[in-house]
Amino acid sequence: MTRASFDKTAMLYNFVEKHIWEDYSSACDIINEYLTLEPEEKIIDVGGGTGLIGKVLRSKKQNDDIMVIDLSRSMLQKVKDPTLSVVQGDVTTFPLKDETFTLAILVNTLHHIYETKQQVALREVFRILKKQGRIFIIEIWHPNTFLSDLFIKIEKILVGKTHHLTADKMQLAIQDVGFHEIKVFFPKKYPYRYVTTAIK
Ligand SMILES: C[S@@+](CC[C@H](N)C(=O)[O-])C[C@H]1O[C@@H](n2cnc3c(N)ncnc32)[C@H](O)[C@@H]1O
Repeated sequence: MTRASFDKTAMLYNFVEKHIWEDYSSACDIINEYLTLEPEEKIIDVGGGTGLIGKVLRSKKQNDDIMVIDLSRSMLQKVKDPTLSVVQGDVTTFPLKDETFTLAILVNTLHHIYETKQQVALREVFRILKKQGRIFIIEIWHPNTFLSDLFIKIEKILVGKTHHLTADKMQLAIQDVGFHEIKVFFPKKYPYRYVTTAIK
């Protein structure tokens, strides 16, 4: 994916996410049900786009640091909450110090990164997490149904080809960079999405 891909769709992104498909509402439900925030978190929302997920995290946590980092400047320009810090950067070469964050969240980010670079991205996330820091990933599962094929085709037109990992491959990739206590599960209400959690 190139930066320009999401730059082009930034104008429409929030509208599509909120009103055309249930991507946003399902991510909110999953975060509210399965992500527990600890006191004094330092959170990074990787590929945080327009800050939709940052806003959900902010509603759960009033005072902690939440950074939204994204490749696309136009997506970041749509972040309206002034309590979120915003950084433009590529997850494969983060402009960030080692062991800075207690929690990294990635919602629908990894499948926009070429398969050969996904491991590099995960390694970078591992690097910037403190010891015992957590990763929380929400990804889309594509069991080759009509609807999932359609979704992939639409994404391809809008932002380019996507690179979906199966849940098994995700588990191996996370393990390979050094995470432990890895859990992968399919939320009952949204069986086409899966959640991966792990600890550094
Ligand atoms: C489908 S959007 C998801 C945005 C947000 N996580 C959400 O759920 O609303 C994917 C985002 O990943 C970002 N992205 C893709 N590749 C990236 C990279 N290498 N580094 C940082 N961000 C990236 C895109 O610019 C885009 O904003």
